[in-house]
Amino acid sequence: MTKLARLRGIEIAYDDAGEGTPIVLLHGFPFNRSMWREQTESLRGAWRVITPDLRGHGETSVAGEVATMEEMAADVAALLDELNISRAVVGSLSMGGYVALAFFRKFPERVLALILADTRPQADTDDGRRAREETARRALVEGMGAVTDAMLPKLLAPSTREREAEVVDRVRAMMLGTNPRGAAAALRGMAARRDQTDLLTEINVPTLIVVGTEDALTPPSDAETMHAKIEGSRLVKIEGAGHVSNVERPEDFNRAIGEFLSGMRT
Ligand code: MLT
Repeated sequence: MTKLARLRGIEIAYDDAGEGTPIVLLHGFPFNRSMWREQTESLRGAWRVITPDLRGHGETSVAGEVATMEEMAADVAALLDELNISRAVVGSLSMGGYVALAFFRKFPERVLALILADTRPQADTDDGRRAREETARRALVEGMGAVTDAMLPKLLAPSTREREAEVVDRVRAMMLGTNPRGAAAALRGMAARRDQTDLLTEINVPTLIVVGTEDALTPPSDAETMHAKIEGSRLVKIEGAGHVSNVERPEDFNRAIGEFLSGMRT
């Protein structure tokens, strides 16, 4: 059942399942916490799994015209405070990864381990920023239908698009359900995000990097860069998955995080 916390002037919706060491999972754009359904089911027997909707997404309030990765990270910290959690594993995908890196920079002592899936450390290029602003305006003027039609083909692997109608429908529904003002604010926040490359060599907690071999948005080369710079990190490539690897190939994704987390506990 959805839980709500009034924090930092907004209402944050989240799920809190299972008991044990906390793991907080941060979703991508323009998705919501429901993308972690299979991971929550797989982990909740041994872990306390907390899945927030990041500001402007899912059932969490929209706040302002720009939602920076730092604000989202501060929301996550406030939620952990509210739940009396001082340290957690921070898992993430894509925009969630930008937030996870912002969180690590601000609160390194609160991170037990990191999972960075289908994400990248670098900032947007100038062209990338211009494209974000265009997409933000499109979301505001035309709504999420136009944004979804443009984005969806790039998010999923060709084999997912051809053979996994349920996955396509689920991802589409998450995107269409996102508040256009929330999406625009996140797009502007992502455009403004800093380069986190210099942080990678500072990461001193167990880190798992996951990437779909068919990820066209944050390709395996980005994952390899992070793997090379984060000392002791583990890299798992999910064969045949695109950018939303945890939804496209949940069994492979769960195996990767399960092996990583059980290694961490020994
Ligand atoms: C995401 O999946 O969160 C986004 O595609 C990330 C991005 O647009 O950079």
